[in-house]
Amino acid sequence: MKALILAGGKGSRLRPITHSIAKQLVPVANKPVIEFGIEAIRNAGVTDFGIIVGDSASEIKEALGAGERWGAKFTYIPQAEPLGLAHAVKTAQPFLGDSRFIMYLGDNLIKTGVDELVKEFDTGSFDASILLTKVPNPQEFGVAELQDGRVVGLVEKPKEPKSDYALVGVYLFNPTIFEAIDTLEPSFRGEYEITDAIQTLIDWGKDVRPHIVTGWWKDTGTVEAMLEANRLILEDMAHSIEGECCDKTMIDGPVTIAKGARVVDSTIRGPAMIGPCCEIIDSYVGPFTSIAERTRVENSEIEYSIVMEDAVIENVDGRISGSLIGRGATVSKTGRKPMSVRLVLGDNSSVVIP
Ligand code: G1P
Repeated sequence: MKALILAGGKGSRLRPITHSIAKQLVPVANKPVIEFGIEAIRNAGVTDFGIIVGDSASEIKEALGAGERWGAKFTYIPQAEPLGLAHAVKTAQPFLGDSRFIMYLGDNLIKTGVDELVKEFDTGSFDASILLTKVPNPQEFGVAELQDGRVVGLVEKPKEPKSDYALVGVYLFNPTIFEAIDTLEPSFRGEYEITDAIQTLIDWGKDVRPHIVTGWWKDTGTVEAMLEANRLILEDMAHSIEGECCDKTMIDGPVTIAKGARVVDSTIRGPAMIGPCCEIIDSYVGPFTSIAERTRVENSEIEYSIVMEDAVIENVDGRISGSLIGRGATVSKTGRKPMSVRLVLGDNSSVVIP
């Protein structure tokens, strides 16, 4: 069994953050989102990974290395053009050979691991397994139509969905998928869709098994989804306090304070996570917030947010909420007149001012 992780996507819905960081490396609970998928697959016993990369190849390689950290072997596979998921799988054919494989979209997160799925597929004789979950907005995903527990039809981003079962970005295939991909034409969005390839398997009478995901699932493609994923992971994880907290600091609920972090005269209300070497001074850090290393928060309040490393938040009036703050960003209050809002924003930034 091999693994294929897709990390080529551009992340246009996460701009401007993704102008400077690959979307698969945006942190959830202070860890690049792609690492959750890698861990889940590694925990299922798979060690041979192909990682499809695009424009951000060097950044992804630098962040993940050759796989030693997971006791795995990573082979990076460049996809020359972002022509869709099925095109990515086809690009990986020389790596995958005649192995059965699990394919995982690098920006997807699922609560339950993939151990059972991998075991079942590895020992079974069916041609594909797909994961499905009910969503309120099926038209934004690949959608499956089920009859008596069997998949009878799959449509990518249907205008009139036949069900509310969305395709989760985790799939298991045997090499028959390559034959199906060879028959595809580009879709309405100009991509070779893996959804269409699986439909082809169904048309050929192949055995495609659906699995309904019971725990949560997030495609972290938007800021809202990223914040939600951060909330879910912070809620589920084990927390610990290894950093320094002064006597006047109040810690409520599950909170992680990493080694080298310093919390002074502040309130931290979990679930929340303060990364290594952060300084939190005279501040409030509220639920579902993760703050990455070397960030300083002083005389400010923040909740339900992701703050990336080396940011500075100081003397901000009101509470920052629902925000994604990039590496080295500064949010501060001017001490002098005019009391105007001064902004230096990258392309596609968004600011909401009360
Ligand atoms: C892709 C798939 C879609 C699936 C989704 C899951 O969509 O094409 O079928 O439901 O991932 O994240 P995309 O992210 O390319 O819009």
